[in-house]
This record gives sequence, C-alpha cells and structure tokens, in this order.
Amino acid sequence: MPRRDEVALVLPEGVRPLSLAAARAVSAAIRAGQLLPGQRLPGTRALGARLGLTRNTVVAAYEALAAEGWVRMEGPRGTFVSPAPLEPGPAEVSQDSLRSAPAYRLPSRRWKDRRAGLGSSWPSGALVLSGGVPDLRMVPHELLARAYRRALRAEGQRLLGYLEAAGHPRLRAALAAHVRARRGIPAGPENVIVTHGAQMALYLAAQALLRPGDRVGVERFGYPPAWDALTCAGARLTAFPVDGEGLIVEALDAQPDLRMVYVTPHHQYPTMAVMSPARRMALLAWAARRRAVVLEDDYDNEVHYAGQPVLPLASMDGGRSVVYVGSLSKVLAPGLRLGYIVAPAPVIEALARHRQVVDRQGDHALERAVAELFEDGEVVAHTRRVRRAYQARRDALAHALRDTFGSALEFTVPAGGMALWARARGVDTERWATRAEAAGVYFIPGRRLDYLGRIQSHARLGFAALEPDELREAVRRLALALAD
Ligand SMILES: Cc1ncc(COP(=O)(O)O)c(C=O)c1O
Repeated sequence: MPRRDEVALVLPEGVRPLSLAAARAVSAAIRAGQLLPGQRLPGTRALGARLGLTRNTVVAAYEALAAEGWVRMEGPRGTFVSPAPLEPGPAEVSQDSLRSAPAYRLPSRRWKDRRAGLGSSWPSGALVLSGGVPDLRMVPHELLARAYRRALRAEGQRLLGYLEAAGHPRLRAALAAHVRARRGIPAGPENVIVTHGAQMALYLAAQALLRPGDRVGVERFGYPPAWDALTCAGARLTAFPVDGEGLIVEALDAQPDLRMVYVTPHHQYPTMAVMSPARRMALLAWAARRRAVVLEDDYDNEVHYAGQPVLPLASMDGGRSVVYVGSLSKVLAPGLRLGYIVAPAPVIEALARHRQVVDRQGDHALERAVAELFEDGEVVAHTRRVRRAYQARRDALAHALRDTFGSALEFTVPAGGMALWARARGVDTERWATRAEAAGVYFIPGRRLDYLGRIQSHARLGFAALEPDELREAVRRLALALAD
C-alpha cells in the first residue's frame, strides 16, 4: 500500500532504457496534476526501491527531466517539480535529453591499449633499452636555442599569430630540399606538410585517406601507435607476415580489398630488416595494380650504418601510390614533435585541412629555427655525429650480449636503426622484462609488438640512448634478471 503522500508512479510498458521509462512515469504524474509545482520528488534511492530500479537509473531519469524543464535539481535539498506550469510543455521526455543527461559519458576506446613501453617516464638511474629513443644528452641544445631566439627576433610577432597549417614555408622548403637531395624523392615545398611528429602524420594520413570500414594491411610485427592511428580512423586491420627481407608482399594477395598498406621498409619496426629491392618493386607494382595507398613510415632514415641508406619507396613511385612519413625525433629529439609527410600537393592540402581541425598549426617559431639548422647544414652534421656514436653503441651492445649470453640469444646486427631484435629461445621475455625492471633495466618484450600478441621469446633492445659502459652494465643486469 502506498503511503498517503506517495504518488503512485507507474512505469510505462516497453519503454527502454529504464531511466527513460522512469522519467516518463514522473512527467505523466506531473501532467496529471498528481505532482504539483514546487512539490519535492521522492529521493532517488527511495524511488528506485519502489520501482525496482537502481539509484543510478533514477538519477539519470531526474537529470533528463531537469534537462527538459520538468523538475529542478537542488543538490542535497532534493529534486522539485518546476514552479512554473509547463505551458504548453514538452509532451514527453525525449531520448535526446536522456542522452545528454549524464555529464561525463566517456566513449569506449576504439584502439587497444598495448602499452608498448614508448614514452613512459622511468625512475632516475634507470637503464632504458626501450627501443628508438635517441641520446638526449647529445641534442644540440645551444644551437637550437640560438636559432629559436633568432627566429623570434627576425620575424617578431608574426610567428606567434595564426599561420599556415601546413607549416612554416622555410621548413617545408628545407625538408623538401633534404628529401630531394638525400632520399631521391622529387618534392617541392608544396609536397610537404609539417606535423607534430610522425605520430600526427600517421593520424592525419589515416583520417584524410581512409573511410570507416576500409581495410588496411600492416606488418605483423610492427609499431602499435601506428595501428592505433589507423584504427581511430575506423580502419579494419589485417596483419601480414614479415621475414628477413621485410614485409612478405605476395601475402597481400590473400586480402582482395586492401585500401592501404602501412610499412616500415627501411628499418622494419621492430625486426630492423631492410626491405629487399625485389620486394620494393613488387609492393609498388601491387599498389599500382590495386590502386591502393602505401603509407611509408621512414622514421629513422639517416640512422643507417652500412653505406648509403636505401632510397625510400617514395623515390621510385612517381607520386602515384606512396604517402611518405618522416620524423625528426630520431635525428634531433622526440620532444620537439616534428614530423612531416611528403605527398602530391592535393593530398597535402587535404591533410592540412584535417590538421586545422585537431591542432590548427604547429609552432612556427620552432619550425623556422629548425629550418635554419637544415639550411646551415647543422642537421646533417649532427646526424653524422650521432650516427658515429650510435654505431659504436650498437657494436658495444652486440659484443656484450654475445659475451654474456652466447648462443642463448640470437640476433642479427642491424644495418641501421637504434635497436636490435633478439630471440632468447625458451625464455618468456615478458617475465624477463618484469625482473629486469626490478633491476633498473627497461626493454620491450616482443609480444607487445606482435599484432597477434603471440610471440614469447623476442625482445627489442635499444642501444642509442646509452653509452657503451652503460650498455655493458645493462647487459650485466639483464643476465642477473634472467638467472633469477
Ligand atoms: C616505427 C615508428 N614510426 C614512427 C615513430 C615516430 O615518432 P614521432 O611521432 O616521435 O615522430 C617511431 C618512434 O619511435 C617509430 O618507431
């Protein structure tokens, strides 16, 4: 039996969700004059108990009623029927106001949280072998600071206004000249957009070139942040195998509807395989035949030790299929967040429109400063310096690993890049990594870089950020962690 002061609220049948049904029960009672202006509604817990609903459901119902003006929520005092008569008043509480009722409804993630160990913060004194981080102690801070000051002095306030989304014209020109001279890519400034790192480049390329539902091929062992960028654009990914010559191009034929393939041909991430010339030709021929886009991620082109870097796919394609992504994170510093895309001018214009939506533009003062470092030959000189150091570090790590683990750890010394890909037969590298962390050494277990999440005994060991002595100490601790 309801108490005398209780209004009999009846949930309408068949209305879902239940919060909408509860809201309509209350609005019906108000319309019928059973609940009067100013009258206090039952507490959410009490009404929930009466109607057999959770408290959260009633809260959502009250919020929907408040959004449409039926009631006023007055915090701890309670919820009251609005004083003004609802003339003519909405007939029913709509689904829309229910949807807008909860303040924070966070969408579920469209991408997987793979925690590849990129960009985390490590405790001080940690020996970090987590892949491709350059040695930040070698960054030419002073040169950069002076160039930045000069940029602000020379172009004053202009650089601090709203400017071109595609980047500072001098950096676009410098990058075009750089990829023309050193990578054989026939590009002018109109073919370049400057981005906040290769990551934004990948994101923009995915947004501009894909439609939700498009299928994209990726390397089975690969770079999870790129997969995330593609997935965010609604792409459906298919992973294809890689071997010592990079992506196995013939395997692409198994999937007839690929719109795009994302590849790292120069230093395959994370195996470091250099894609063979035959595979390169086959990939370009496949893309032309299928009218598919090749998204070429050449994130560390200059960090190559064996002769000249291999020329990118983009140098052989004639602007037909390849969208080329580069980064200054490896040769200068990841914190500068400078990357770029080289593509035909109409593609660059589309990318710039997308860039405007998420970020408006980059830091033009920084872009001008870095353009000057390119023009003065400083970037190339710095690259030469770090390449020499990194090569010595690669060799130091390879020696220390061989001396310590012998044949128990298999790896090929990479021709380029900042990490090596090793296999410890019979070892679960996730567990090894956990033990190593306790000893202050950080590396990425291979499983996190496997699209299928299966391989157990591989590891990516970066060497660029540490001096040879530090690398030897890291290997000593790795051995202790393995023996544990
Ligand atoms: C395969 C690959 N692509 C792209 C990047 C790019 O980085 P950023 O966004 O710092 O330019 C990295 C960095 O680790 C990488 O390994």
